[in-house]
Amino acid sequence: MIDLYGLARPLLRCLAPEAAHGLTLWALRSGLIAPTLAKDAPALGSRVFGLDFPNPLGLAAGFDKNVEAVAPLLSLKLGFVEVGGITPDPQPGNPKPRVFRLGKDEAVINRLGFNSDGLEAAVARLAALRRQPYPPERPIGANLALNRTAEDPAEDYIIGLSRLYDLIDYATLNVSSPNTPGLRALQGREPLSDLLARVLEARERAGELHGKRLPVLVKIAPDLSGPELADIVGVALSRGVDGLVVTNTTTGHREGLKSRHRIEAGGLSGRPLFAPSTRMLKETYRLTDGRLPLIGVGGIASGADAYAKIRSGASLVQLYTALIFHGPELIERIKSDLAGLLIRDGFTNLAQAVGADLKS
Ligand SMILES: Cc1cc2nc3c(=O)[nH]c(=O)nc-3n(C[C@H](O)[C@H](O)[C@H](O)COP(=O)(O)O)c2cc1C
Repeated sequence: MIDLYGLARPLLRCLAPEAAHGLTLWALRSGLIAPTLAKDAPALGSRVFGLDFPNPLGLAAGFDKNVEAVAPLLSLKLGFVEVGGITPDPQPGNPKPRVFRLGKDEAVINRLGFNSDGLEAAVARLAALRRQPYPPERPIGANLALNRTAEDPAEDYIIGLSRLYDLIDYATLNVSSPNTPGLRALQGREPLSDLLARVLEARERAGELHGKRLPVLVKIAPDLSGPELADIVGVALSRGVDGLVVTNTTTGHREGLKSRHRIEAGGLSGRPLFAPSTRMLKETYRLTDGRLPLIGVGGIASGADAYAKIRSGASLVQLYTALIFHGPELIERIKSDLAGLLIRDGFTNLAQAVGADLKS
């Protein structure tokens, strides 16, 4: 099949970022982006929080917010896809423009503010996906978000978790997007502890109803101080979450950026986020002592980047921004380079490399 997406990429760069993203989702849905035929190297497979992942490279939240293109995305042989952020009720998000490409920095600043078709739309689309003759076999996670008008944040997460429970393989509580006022305060020790107590109790109830235990993860910001991170890890371990996603976008790290949009308000992702998010990942792994699976996300654009995250403690990794700059063929490149790096260093499977930089 001709690489239509490759041919269209220069055009996409001329469009406003959100329009380009809409066109990309449409191209995926229309089958214009060819599925990948290559098989996953067996060494890349692993079992994390009770789920089997054929490879560790997942799509980060925010790319397919409304569950529009999960099957075609998985046909690109991503290891897993995290849909969302999904809010209980539909909401428009912030006024446009609210996504900015920083080409010279291979970065993006976004202040979308959880634009979402809402929970019922996500439920309908996931149910349809599960009813297909060949439903996807790779894990699908859902990133749960809050409505801007939420009065009781725990309730919004509980609604999302309960409605999606038997349609997804894991849920991520997003308490770290910088574009919803007050959201990141949920990362504090007391609020997080209260939130997790209620959400995990709801998980128990839903688990009894559906006869399965859904892994629940918490996604954290890269802008936390050492003591704040230690609090989160302490609460996560004591409350019994299944993993942490490290990290969301950053409100800092603007120094050194070259693109004209560097002054826009919002969360920064892509290359400039790699170093700070990897530092935080390492620190999180050290604090958890390897007891909690971590998903490493932030600035991954190569097999070497993915490998660095894994050696810093990530059992799985995710990416988003680099796909905007390098297109879908980056997925295969990252996986094959990662497999090569594991072999080079004498690892026969991925799990052996997790946290390797902190073990010596
Ligand atoms: C346009 C855009 C929208 C995003 N939306 C969400 C979201 O809804 N929920 C979330 O947890 N993270 C969201 N993220 C953050 C990403 O999931 C990821 O944590 C971050 O972009 C860092 O990874 P990257 O450098 O590979 O892009 C979004 C990122 C971008 C660029």
